[in-house]
Amino acid sequence: MNELKKDFPILMKRDIAYLDSGATTQKPQYVLEKINEYYNLQNANPHRGAYSLSIEATQAYEETREKIAKFINSPSSSQIIFTKNASEALNLIAYSYGLDNLKNDDEVVISIMEHHSNLVPWQYVTKKTNSVLKYMYINEEYEITDEEIKSKITDKTKIVGITHVSNVTGTINNVKEIINYAHQKGAVVVLDASQSIPHMRVDVQDLNADFVVFSGHKMLAPLGIGVLYGKKETLENMTPFLMGGDMIEYVYEQDTTFAPLPNKFEAGTQNVGGVVGLGAAIDYIEKIGYENILEQEKELVKYAREELQKLEYIKLYMTPNEENHSAVISFNIIGVHPHDVASILDSQGVCVRSGNHCAQPLMRYLGIDSTCRASFYIYNTKEDVDRLVEAIKKAYKMFEKYIKNN
Ligand code: ALA
Repeated sequence: MNELKKDFPILMKRDIAYLDSGATTQKPQYVLEKINEYYNLQNANPHRGAYSLSIEATQAYEETREKIAKFINSPSSSQIIFTKNASEALNLIAYSYGLDNLKNDDEVVISIMEHHSNLVPWQYVTKKTNSVLKYMYINEEYEITDEEIKSKITDKTKIVGITHVSNVTGTINNVKEIINYAHQKGAVVVLDASQSIPHMRVDVQDLNADFVVFSGHKMLAPLGIGVLYGKKETLENMTPFLMGGDMIEYVYEQDTTFAPLPNKFEAGTQNVGGVVGLGAAIDYIEKIGYENILEQEKELVKYAREELQKLEYIKLYMTPNEENHSAVISFNIIGVHPHDVASILDSQGVCVRSGNHCAQPLMRYLGIDSTCRASFYIYNTKEDVDRLVEAIKKAYKMFEKYIKNN
Protein backbone atom coordinates (compact mmCIF):
# COMPACT_ATOMS: atom_id res chain seq x y z
CA MET A 1 0.00 0.00 0.00
CA ASN A 2 1.03 3.57 -0.63
CA GLU A 3 2.28 4.71 2.80
CA LEU A 4 0.62 8.12 2.44
CA LYS A 5 -2.83 6.53 2.10
CA LYS A 6 -2.69 5.70 5.81
CA ASP A 7 -2.75 9.44 6.59
CA PHE A 8 -6.23 9.78 5.08
CA PRO A 9 -8.90 8.46 7.46
CA ILE A 10 -11.64 8.30 4.83
CA LEU A 11 -9.51 6.11 2.58
CA MET A 12 -8.80 3.71 5.44
CA LYS A 13 -12.48 3.50 6.37
CA ARG A 14 -14.12 3.26 2.94
CA ASP A 15 -13.37 0.54 0.43
CA ILE A 16 -13.04 2.84 -2.56
CA ALA A 17 -10.64 3.84 -5.30
CA TYR A 18 -11.00 7.60 -4.98
CA LEU A 19 -10.19 9.00 -8.42
CA ASP A 20 -11.84 12.40 -8.23
CA SER A 21 -9.12 14.55 -6.69
CA GLY A 22 -9.46 17.03 -9.56
CA ALA A 23 -12.85 17.87 -8.05
CA THR A 24 -11.63 17.84 -4.44
CA THR A 25 -8.90 15.96 -2.60
CA GLN A 26 -9.37 13.94 0.55
CA LYS A 27 -7.96 15.47 3.74
CA PRO A 28 -5.14 14.00 5.84
CA GLN A 29 -5.52 13.46 9.57
CA TYR A 30 -2.96 16.22 10.18
CA VAL A 31 -5.15 18.83 8.44
CA LEU A 32 -8.30 17.60 10.20
CA GLU A 33 -6.53 17.80 13.57
CA LYS A 34 -5.26 21.33 12.97
CA ILE A 35 -8.76 22.54 12.07
CA ASN A 36 -10.17 20.81 15.13
CA GLU A 37 -7.45 22.29 17.33
CA TYR A 38 -8.23 25.77 16.02
CA TYR A 39 -11.94 25.46 16.84
CA ASN A 40 -11.23 23.76 20.18
CA LEU A 41 -8.64 26.24 21.40
CA GLN A 42 -8.43 29.45 19.38
CA ASN A 43 -11.72 30.31 17.72
CA ALA A 44 -12.71 33.99 17.81
CA ASN A 45 -13.35 36.67 15.23
CA PRO A 46 -9.96 37.91 13.96
CA HIS A 47 -9.07 41.61 13.61
CA ARG A 48 -12.03 42.59 15.76
CA GLY A 49 -11.24 41.93 19.41
CA ALA A 50 -8.66 43.42 21.79
CA TYR A 51 -8.87 40.28 23.96
CA SER A 52 -6.20 37.56 23.76
CA LEU A 53 -8.35 34.91 22.08
CA SER A 54 -9.20 37.21 19.18
CA ILE A 55 -5.54 38.19 18.94
CA GLU A 56 -4.60 34.50 18.75
CA ALA A 57 -7.16 33.93 15.98
CA THR A 58 -5.72 36.95 14.15
CA GLN A 59 -2.23 35.50 14.53
CA ALA A 60 -3.31 32.11 13.21
CA TYR A 61 -4.89 33.85 10.22
CA GLU A 62 -2.01 36.21 9.44
CA GLU A 63 0.73 33.63 10.05
CA THR A 64 -0.90 31.43 7.43
CA ARG A 65 -0.92 34.35 5.01
CA GLU A 66 2.86 34.59 5.54
CA LYS A 67 3.19 30.85 5.01
CA ILE A 68 1.28 31.01 1.72
CA ALA A 69 3.39 33.95 0.56
CA LYS A 70 6.55 31.86 1.12
CA PHE A 71 4.95 28.79 -0.44
CA ILE A 72 4.28 30.54 -3.76
CA ASN A 73 7.24 32.96 -3.45
CA SER A 74 5.10 36.10 -3.29
CA PRO A 75 7.26 39.16 -2.56
CA SER A 76 4.95 40.06 0.35
CA SER A 77 2.07 38.59 2.32
CA SER A 78 -0.05 41.68 1.60
CA GLN A 79 -0.40 40.33 -1.95
CA ILE A 80 -2.18 37.22 -0.69
CA ILE A 81 -5.95 37.70 -0.57
CA PHE A 82 -8.17 35.04 0.96
CA THR A 83 -11.29 34.19 -1.01
CA LYS A 84 -13.92 31.47 -0.85
CA ASN A 85 -12.36 29.56 -3.75
CA ALA A 86 -10.66 30.10 -7.12
CA SER A 87 -14.01 31.04 -8.70
CA GLU A 88 -14.49 33.92 -6.29
CA ALA A 89 -10.90 35.05 -6.90
CA LEU A 90 -11.49 35.02 -10.67
CA ASN A 91 -14.72 36.98 -10.26
CA LEU A 92 -12.86 39.48 -8.10
CA ILE A 93 -10.31 40.05 -10.89
CA ALA A 94 -12.95 40.23 -13.62
CA TYR A 95 -15.09 42.74 -11.72
CA SER A 96 -12.40 44.83 -10.05
CA TYR A 97 -9.76 44.82 -12.76
CA GLY A 98 -11.72 43.92 -15.90
CA LEU A 99 -14.67 46.27 -15.57
CA ASP A 100 -12.42 49.24 -14.76
CA ASN A 101 -9.71 48.64 -17.36
CA LEU A 102 -11.39 47.26 -20.47
CA LYS A 103 -12.85 49.55 -23.07
CA ASN A 104 -14.49 49.39 -26.45
CA ASP A 105 -12.68 46.97 -28.84
CA ASP A 106 -10.08 45.84 -26.31
CA GLU A 107 -9.63 42.07 -26.32
CA VAL A 108 -9.61 39.43 -23.62
CA VAL A 109 -7.99 36.17 -24.70
CA ILE A 110 -8.64 32.91 -22.88
CA SER A 111 -8.17 29.28 -23.86
CA ILE A 112 -10.93 26.94 -24.98
CA MET A 113 -9.95 24.63 -22.12
CA GLU A 114 -10.88 27.10 -19.37
CA HIS A 115 -13.15 26.04 -16.55
CA HIS A 116 -16.40 28.06 -16.60
CA SER A 117 -14.99 30.04 -13.66
CA ASN A 118 -12.29 31.54 -15.88
CA LEU A 119 -14.68 32.00 -18.78
CA VAL A 120 -18.17 33.13 -17.73
CA PRO A 121 -16.86 36.18 -15.76
CA TRP A 122 -14.95 37.25 -18.89
CA GLN A 123 -18.08 36.91 -21.01
CA TYR A 124 -19.84 39.17 -18.54
CA VAL A 125 -17.20 41.91 -18.38
CA THR A 126 -16.45 41.93 -22.11
CA LYS A 127 -20.17 42.38 -22.81
CA LYS A 128 -20.41 45.14 -20.18
CA THR A 129 -17.38 47.00 -21.59
CA ASN A 130 -18.03 46.35 -25.30
CA SER A 131 -14.72 44.55 -25.51
CA VAL A 132 -14.14 41.26 -27.32
CA LEU A 133 -13.63 37.75 -25.92
CA LYS A 134 -11.33 35.56 -28.03
CA TYR A 135 -10.20 31.96 -27.65
CA MET A 136 -6.95 30.09 -28.08
CA TYR A 137 -7.88 26.65 -29.40
CA ILE A 138 -6.11 23.33 -28.91
CA ASN A 139 -4.64 21.04 -31.55
CA GLU A 140 -5.33 17.33 -31.99
CA GLU A 141 -2.83 16.65 -29.19
CA TYR A 142 -4.94 18.74 -26.77
CA GLU A 143 -2.25 21.42 -26.60
CA ILE A 144 -2.11 25.12 -27.47
CA THR A 145 0.56 25.68 -30.09
CA ASP A 146 2.97 28.65 -30.20
CA GLU A 147 1.34 29.72 -33.48
CA GLU A 148 -2.06 29.79 -31.81
CA ILE A 149 -0.72 31.87 -28.92
CA LYS A 150 0.87 34.35 -31.31
CA SER A 151 -2.12 34.60 -33.60
CA LYS A 152 -4.57 35.33 -30.78
CA ILE A 153 -2.59 37.55 -28.39
CA THR A 154 -2.09 40.86 -30.15
CA ASP A 155 -1.60 44.55 -29.39
CA LYS A 156 -5.36 44.72 -28.79
CA THR A 157 -5.19 42.13 -25.99
CA LYS A 158 -5.52 43.63 -22.53
CA ILE A 159 -6.13 40.49 -20.45
CA VAL A 160 -5.13 36.86 -20.97
CA GLY A 161 -6.79 34.16 -18.87
CA ILE A 162 -5.16 30.75 -18.87
CA THR A 163 -5.36 27.58 -16.83
CA HIS A 164 -2.00 26.11 -15.82
CA VAL A 165 -3.39 22.57 -16.12
CA SER A 166 -6.65 21.60 -17.83
CA ASN A 167 -9.18 19.97 -15.49
CA VAL A 168 -10.45 17.90 -18.45
CA THR A 169 -7.43 16.84 -20.50
CA GLY A 170 -4.71 17.25 -17.89
CA THR A 171 -2.62 19.22 -20.39
CA ILE A 172 0.08 21.29 -18.69
CA ASN A 173 0.05 24.56 -20.62
CA ASN A 174 3.21 26.40 -21.48
CA VAL A 175 2.16 29.27 -19.27
CA LYS A 176 5.59 30.87 -19.01
CA GLU A 177 5.64 31.39 -22.73
CA ILE A 178 2.05 32.68 -22.75
CA ILE A 179 2.83 35.10 -19.91
CA ASN A 180 6.01 36.39 -21.60
CA TYR A 181 4.28 36.88 -24.91
CA ALA A 182 1.24 38.57 -23.34
CA HIS A 183 3.55 40.96 -21.48
CA GLN A 184 5.37 41.81 -24.72
CA LYS A 185 1.97 42.81 -26.08
CA GLY A 186 1.12 44.83 -22.96
CA ALA A 187 -1.55 42.49 -21.55
CA VAL A 188 -1.93 41.28 -17.97
CA VAL A 189 -2.21 37.55 -17.32
CA VAL A 190 -4.59 35.75 -14.98
CA LEU A 191 -3.31 32.27 -14.18
CA ASP A 192 -5.69 29.63 -12.83
CA ALA A 193 -3.43 27.33 -10.82
CA SER A 194 -6.25 25.29 -9.26
CA GLN A 195 -5.26 22.06 -11.02
CA SER A 196 -1.50 22.62 -10.93
CA ILE A 197 -0.62 23.70 -7.39
CA PRO A 198 -1.63 20.37 -5.80
CA HIS A 199 0.95 18.68 -8.05
CA MET A 200 3.78 21.12 -8.81
CA ARG A 201 5.50 24.15 -7.34
CA VAL A 202 3.91 27.43 -8.43
CA ASP A 203 6.45 30.24 -8.09
CA VAL A 204 4.63 33.48 -8.81
CA GLN A 205 7.81 35.50 -9.34
CA ASP A 206 9.33 32.95 -11.67
CA LEU A 207 6.09 32.70 -13.67
CA ASN A 208 5.64 36.47 -13.52
CA ALA A 209 1.84 36.23 -13.87
CA ASP A 210 -0.08 39.34 -12.80
CA PHE A 211 -2.69 37.31 -10.95
CA VAL A 212 -2.63 33.70 -9.74
CA VAL A 213 -5.63 31.96 -8.18
CA PHE A 214 -6.19 28.56 -6.59
CA SER A 215 -8.58 26.68 -4.30
CA GLY A 216 -7.51 25.06 -1.04
CA HIS A 217 -9.84 22.08 -1.29
CA LYS A 218 -8.02 20.64 -4.31
CA MET A 219 -4.76 20.59 -2.32
CA LEU A 220 -5.77 18.76 0.88
CA ALA A 221 -7.32 21.78 2.65
CA PRO A 222 -11.01 22.11 3.56
CA LEU A 223 -13.71 23.42 1.26
CA GLY A 224 -14.45 27.15 1.26
CA ILE A 225 -10.99 28.66 1.19
CA GLY A 226 -9.18 30.03 -1.86
CA VAL A 227 -6.30 32.35 -2.65
CA LEU A 228 -5.74 35.27 -4.97
CA TYR A 229 -2.19 36.50 -5.52
CA GLY A 230 -1.68 39.72 -7.45
CA LYS A 231 1.14 42.10 -8.29
CA LYS A 232 1.18 44.76 -5.62
CA GLU A 233 0.77 47.84 -7.78
CA THR A 234 -2.05 46.23 -9.73
CA LEU A 235 -3.91 45.23 -6.57
CA GLU A 236 -3.35 48.65 -5.04
CA ASN A 237 -4.91 50.34 -8.06
CA MET A 238 -8.01 48.16 -8.06
CA THR A 239 -11.30 49.00 -6.38
CA PRO A 240 -12.63 46.42 -3.92
CA PHE A 241 -15.01 43.75 -5.18
CA LEU A 242 -16.95 43.04 -1.98
CA MET A 243 -17.76 45.81 0.49
CA GLY A 244 -18.42 45.48 4.19
CA GLY A 245 -16.72 45.05 7.54
CA ASP A 246 -12.94 45.07 7.94
CA MET A 247 -12.15 46.25 4.40
CA ILE A 248 -12.59 49.93 5.28
CA GLU A 249 -10.47 52.67 6.78
CA TYR A 250 -13.07 55.40 7.51
CA VAL A 251 -16.78 55.29 6.76
CA TYR A 252 -18.80 58.51 6.55
CA GLU A 253 -22.48 58.84 5.75
CA GLN A 254 -21.84 59.23 2.03
CA ASP A 255 -18.26 58.08 1.49
CA THR A 256 -15.72 55.48 2.53
CA THR A 257 -11.97 55.11 2.34
CA PHE A 258 -10.62 51.60 2.04
CA ALA A 259 -8.11 49.67 4.13
CA PRO A 260 -4.68 48.91 2.63
CA LEU A 261 -3.88 45.50 1.14
CA PRO A 262 -4.81 42.78 1.80
CA ASN A 263 -7.82 43.78 3.92
CA LYS A 264 -9.27 45.94 1.16
CA PHE A 265 -10.37 42.75 -0.58
CA GLU A 266 -11.50 40.79 2.49
CA ALA A 267 -14.96 42.03 3.45
CA GLY A 268 -16.82 40.37 6.30
CA THR A 269 -15.78 37.72 8.80
CA GLN A 270 -13.30 35.40 7.16
CA ASN A 271 -12.98 31.62 7.15
CA VAL A 272 -10.17 31.37 9.70
CA GLY A 273 -10.70 27.63 10.23
CA GLY A 274 -10.31 27.16 6.47
CA VAL A 275 -7.19 29.31 6.42
CA VAL A 276 -5.67 27.28 9.26
CA GLY A 277 -6.54 24.10 7.36
CA LEU A 278 -4.86 25.46 4.25
CA GLY A 279 -1.75 26.26 6.29
CA ALA A 280 -1.71 22.69 7.58
CA ALA A 281 -2.16 21.34 4.03
CA ILE A 282 0.87 23.35 2.95
CA ASP A 283 2.90 21.91 5.86
CA TYR A 284 1.88 18.44 4.77
CA ILE A 285 2.76 19.02 1.10
CA GLU A 286 6.11 20.61 2.01
CA LYS A 287 6.92 17.67 4.27
CA ILE A 288 6.42 15.22 1.41
CA GLY A 289 8.09 17.59 -1.08
CA TYR A 290 6.92 18.40 -4.59
CA GLU A 291 9.78 16.33 -6.07
CA ASN A 292 8.40 13.22 -4.38
CA ILE A 293 4.81 14.09 -5.29
CA LEU A 294 5.77 14.53 -8.93
CA GLU A 295 7.87 11.38 -9.04
CA GLN A 296 5.14 9.23 -7.50
CA GLU A 297 2.38 10.70 -9.67
CA LYS A 298 4.44 10.39 -12.82
CA GLU A 299 4.84 6.67 -12.30
CA LEU A 300 1.18 6.21 -11.42
CA VAL A 301 -0.15 8.26 -14.35
CA LYS A 302 2.21 6.46 -16.74
CA TYR A 303 0.82 3.16 -15.51
CA ALA A 304 -2.76 4.42 -15.86
CA ARG A 305 -2.10 5.72 -19.39
CA GLU A 306 -0.60 2.37 -20.42
CA GLU A 307 -3.35 0.25 -18.90
CA LEU A 308 -6.16 2.42 -20.31
CA GLN A 309 -4.57 2.52 -23.76
CA LYS A 310 -4.89 -1.27 -23.90
CA LEU A 311 -8.70 -0.97 -23.96
CA GLU A 312 -9.44 -0.52 -27.64
CA TYR A 313 -13.10 0.42 -27.02
CA ILE A 314 -12.32 3.57 -25.05
CA LYS A 315 -11.38 7.00 -26.30
CA LEU A 316 -8.83 8.95 -24.25
CA TYR A 317 -8.71 12.73 -24.30
CA MET A 318 -5.09 13.39 -23.40
CA THR A 319 -1.89 14.58 -24.97
CA PRO A 320 0.52 11.89 -26.23
CA ASN A 321 3.33 13.99 -24.73
CA GLU A 322 3.68 12.56 -21.23
CA GLU A 323 5.81 15.46 -20.02
CA ASN A 324 2.93 17.87 -20.78
CA HIS A 325 0.36 15.74 -18.97
CA SER A 326 -0.61 16.07 -15.31
CA ALA A 327 -2.75 13.72 -13.23
CA VAL A 328 -6.13 13.85 -15.01
CA ILE A 329 -7.39 11.32 -17.57
CA SER A 330 -10.68 11.86 -19.36
CA PHE A 331 -12.16 8.94 -21.29
CA ASN A 332 -15.31 7.55 -22.84
CA ILE A 333 -16.43 4.05 -23.65
CA ILE A 334 -17.38 4.74 -27.24
CA GLY A 335 -21.16 4.55 -27.58
CA VAL A 336 -21.99 4.61 -23.85
CA HIS A 337 -23.03 7.67 -21.89
CA PRO A 338 -20.38 8.63 -19.30
CA HIS A 339 -22.99 8.89 -16.53
CA ASP A 340 -23.89 5.22 -17.13
CA VAL A 341 -20.21 4.27 -17.07
CA ALA A 342 -19.63 6.28 -13.88
CA SER A 343 -22.59 4.55 -12.17
CA ILE A 344 -21.22 1.13 -12.98
CA LEU A 345 -17.76 2.22 -11.82
CA ASP A 346 -19.36 3.44 -8.61
CA SER A 347 -20.97 0.04 -8.06
CA GLN A 348 -17.38 -1.31 -8.12
CA GLY A 349 -16.22 1.26 -5.58
CA VAL A 350 -14.49 3.46 -8.16
CA CYS A 351 -15.18 7.20 -7.81
CA VAL A 352 -14.77 9.19 -11.04
CA ARG A 353 -16.43 12.37 -12.18
CA SER A 354 -18.66 12.28 -15.24
CA GLY A 355 -20.17 15.19 -17.13
CA ASN A 356 -18.86 18.29 -18.83
CA HIS A 357 -16.49 19.17 -15.95
CA CYS A 358 -17.60 22.83 -16.03
CA ALA A 359 -16.03 23.14 -19.47
CA GLN A 360 -18.93 23.11 -21.93
CA PRO A 361 -17.16 25.14 -24.66
CA LEU A 362 -14.29 22.62 -24.59
CA MET A 363 -16.72 19.71 -24.83
CA ARG A 364 -18.45 21.34 -27.78
CA TYR A 365 -15.08 21.96 -29.43
CA LEU A 366 -14.22 18.27 -28.99
CA GLY A 367 -17.60 17.29 -30.45
CA ILE A 368 -18.83 15.54 -27.30
CA ASP A 369 -21.04 16.53 -24.42
CA SER A 370 -19.31 14.77 -21.59
CA THR A 371 -16.59 12.39 -20.44
CA CYS A 372 -15.67 10.25 -17.48
CA ARG A 373 -12.66 11.64 -15.68
CA ALA A 374 -10.21 9.86 -13.40
CA SER A 375 -7.97 12.24 -11.48
CA PHE A 376 -5.14 11.06 -9.28
CA TYR A 377 -3.33 12.28 -6.22
CA ILE A 378 -0.64 11.28 -3.75
CA TYR A 379 -2.73 8.66 -1.97
CA ASN A 380 -3.60 6.70 -5.11
CA THR A 381 -2.02 3.36 -5.92
CA LYS A 382 -1.57 1.02 -8.86
CA GLU A 383 -4.32 -1.08 -7.25
CA ASP A 384 -6.67 1.89 -7.71
CA VAL A 385 -5.76 1.97 -11.41
CA ASP A 386 -6.31 -1.81 -11.69
CA ARG A 387 -9.67 -1.42 -10.02
CA LEU A 388 -10.58 1.36 -12.49
CA VAL A 389 -9.56 -0.79 -15.46
CA GLU A 390 -11.47 -3.84 -14.17
CA ALA A 391 -14.58 -1.71 -13.59
CA ILE A 392 -14.36 -0.24 -17.11
CA LYS A 393 -14.08 -3.78 -18.52
CA LYS A 394 -17.19 -4.74 -16.57
CA ALA A 395 -19.07 -1.66 -17.83
CA TYR A 396 -18.06 -2.49 -21.39
CA LYS A 397 -19.26 -6.08 -20.99
CA MET A 398 -22.65 -4.84 -19.76
CA PHE A 399 -23.05 -2.54 -22.76
CA GLU A 400 -21.27 -4.62 -25.41
CA LYS A 401 -24.45 -5.86 -27.10
CA TYR A 402 -26.03 -2.42 -27.02
CA ILE A 403 -22.90 -0.80 -28.50
CA LYS A 404 -22.67 -3.39 -31.27
CA ASN A 405 -26.37 -3.01 -32.18
CA ASN A 406 -26.14 0.76 -32.42
N1 ALA B 1 -13.37 22.32 -10.79
C1 ALA B 1 -13.60 21.02 -10.22
C2 ALA B 1 -13.44 19.93 -11.24
O1 ALA B 1 -12.86 20.08 -12.25
C3 ALA B 1 -14.86 20.94 -9.50
O2 ALA B 1 -13.89 18.85 -11.01
